[in-house]
Amino acid sequence: MTPLKITNLTKKYDKLTAVDQVSFEIQPGEALGLLGPNGAGKTTIISSIVTLQAITEGKVEIFGVDIEKKPRLAKAYIGFVPQELIHHGFFTVEEILKFHATYFGISLNKNYLQHLLEKLHLWSHRKKLVSQLSGGMKRRLLILKALIHKPKILLLDEPTAGVDIELRTSLWDFIQELKKEGMSILLTTHYLEEAERLCDRIGILNAGQLQRIDSTEKMLQEHSSKKITLILCKPLSKVSHPLLKMQSDHYLDFQIPNEMPLNILLQETSIPMEAIQDINIKVGTLEDVMYNILNGSSNE
Ligand SMILES: Nc1ncnc2c1ncn2[C@@H]1O[C@H](COP(=O)(O)OP(=O)(O)O)[C@@H](O)[C@H]1O
Ligand SMILES: [Mg+2]
Repeated sequence: MTPLKITNLTKKYDKLTAVDQVSFEIQPGEALGLLGPNGAGKTTIISSIVTLQAITEGKVEIFGVDIEKKPRLAKAYIGFVPQELIHHGFFTVEEILKFHATYFGISLNKNYLQHLLEKLHLWSHRKKLVSQLSGGMKRRLLILKALIHKPKILLLDEPTAGVDIELRTSLWDFIQELKKEGMSILLTTHYLEEAERLCDRIGILNAGQLQRIDSTEKMLQEHSSKKITLILCKPLSKVSHPLLKMQSDHYLDFQIPNEMPLNILLQETSIPMEAIQDINIKVGTLEDVMYNILNGSSNE
């Protein structure tokens, strides 16, 4: 049974169609990244899945359970990390987590709780009031809260906004571990590097419509390219190659497919190694992919 299946999801706020006929599925152990400009509808999709917003049209199924028909049963499978931070300032981290477990009607396993607190670097902060936590700690607490009832699907809405680089990297490792254990992940993010690292597939959303959904690898292959600059020791006579973009006395600029190795390019152009002083390689990224898809061009 598919963990998360969304069929023709549409959400209207009065006249505005925030989500327009969106369909996708997520398999066990798979991470799907939803990318798109502000206001594209990412948060609305996630809010619809967890019934914070009523669906206008379409269907959300969690392991075959219709979220509108049996919300409690379906939501028990879901861990949800909202975009907005929490404010329960008068309680400690531990207290919040205990309340949360009670809400789900589960007794909190001490070892599991300690494991999560350690994984999310919150163990030494567990006695602190939530109001005493930094923004990054609050976000990690939100992630911890989402995992307390051992969900099978994790929805992460901008999980690393405001988290510093070091902690971001350790969060990525943690999310990778969850994936390996079979967790299905739906992630929205503005950090394209995060999406590239974590997501098996990427969906690009614009004005409520899913413009493209495919494997991260395929998107990069089709919609980005590698820029190679050969810095020359001495001027060369005219180089002729279909992928050459620019030649000057001091450098040659090529734009080549991401998967094409440098040595093939050198062979094809028969540029002697001794003519090259240095090489600058800029590999294509999801930023190129986003730009190209949102602006309607294929490669370049
Ligand atoms: N509660 C709401 N009422 C009315 N409009 C909303 C509401 N929430 C979001 N919107 C609108 O829906 C669109 C999608 O918003 P959102 O899902 O938050 O986008 P994203 O998360 O991709 O930035 C935006 O135009 C936003 O202004
Ligand atoms: Mg959002």
